[in-house]
Amino acid sequence: MTTVAQTSETSQPSAGGVGASAGSAGAAAPPMLWAEGLTKSYMRTRALNGLSLHVPRGSIYGFVGPNGAGKTTTMRILATLLAPDGGEAYVDGRPLTSNPGGVRSKLGYMPDFFGVYDNLTVSEYLDFYAAAYGVPKAEACRTIPELLELVDLAHKRHDFVEGLSRGMKQRLGLARCLVHNPEVLLLDEPASGMDPRARYEMREIVKELQRLGKTVLVSSHILLELAEMCSHIGIVQGGRLLREGPVNTILQSLRGARAVRIGVMGDERSREAAATVLARQPGVGEVQVVGDDLEAAFTGDDGGTAALLRALVEADIPVLRFAPAANSLEEIFMQLTEADGADGTGGASV
Ligand SMILES: Nc1ncnc2c1ncn2[C@@H]1O[C@H](COP(=O)(O)OP(=O)(O)OP(=O)(O)O)[C@@H](O)[C@H]1O
Ligand SMILES: [Mg+2]
Repeated sequence: MTTVAQTSETSQPSAGGVGASAGSAGAAAPPMLWAEGLTKSYMRTRALNGLSLHVPRGSIYGFVGPNGAGKTTTMRILATLLAPDGGEAYVDGRPLTSNPGGVRSKLGYMPDFFGVYDNLTVSEYLDFYAAAYGVPKAEACRTIPELLELVDLAHKRHDFVEGLSRGMKQRLGLARCLVHNPEVLLLDEPASGMDPRARYEMREIVKELQRLGKTVLVSSHILLELAEMCSHIGIVQGGRLLREGPVNTILQSLRGARAVRIGVMGDERSREAAATVLARQPGVGEVQVVGDDLEAAFTGDDGGTAALLRALVEADIPVLRFAPAANSLEEIFMQLTEADGADGTGGASV
């Protein structure tokens, strides 16, 4: 897998107005992908309303938002397939809208829906795209078998593409956007329609691409799925970016009141004893019984969370489980996108 790795030393930012302070995603280096103030309307629908984002070099950046938030529109603009009405984006310091041809070779785009040609085998399909990207024949002959290994389709290379399952077609689509060895990948819901195992495998492939030096922007509706694989997250709603940054920082800043779930050994009495100890700790709000566990609303930081656990142990409570409440991520997402005053869709009328 050496040839699909980013081998070039030329990916240093060429400034072009993208200063080190431009990124708000916490990276010291200038972002690999940067957009500022993107606007786009389709007839009377405003899809993007001044959207900005900063994707650090080498990150997996999860782009999350409800239906109609503007994710696909943003990704199509970043892929140079759609011109914005206003704003600008940069890839590795190079402006995207004023010179799309100059950045295309750096970008690999996997759309949310794509067709496959009939009467082509899997290998021929990738050969065709390699030729379209101007990849020399010898290089394509070396790279394509490696890509097929990466997406686990080597055994299907002589099969016709229309006969592949949906999940296989998705993986072929991913291989297709890698044929020219781009530095930046734009993956629009790459795991949609896949079963849980295939989704897991897609996540592993994306992480492998990051290890190979790629920068990945990946969209999804599923916050938990993105949190599992991403280093950074941007939350989009109504054509604007609401928050972005490293996953942990974002989650922490959103969790004004995080919920901690605690499982204790024993019966009702043990739970009551634990609830009494918890209720005395600073920052603890309501304590509820959820299934066999307790769930405590909590406004403390990481240090406070550690102190909660210590207090339970020091009070001889037999703690079995102690973790953030699993559903709090989705709740945060719902709260945040509802708070923006929208009905879950973007696309305000202009
Ligand atoms: N070709 C189009 N013509 C008219 N309106 C469009 C078009 N494409 C998108 N829109 C509108 O722009 C807004 C943003 O759509 P977009 O597809 O970018 O959202 P999304 O976040 O990708 O949604 P989803 O999660 O459903 O894929 C929506 O209101 C949508 O209806
Ligand atoms: Mg979309």
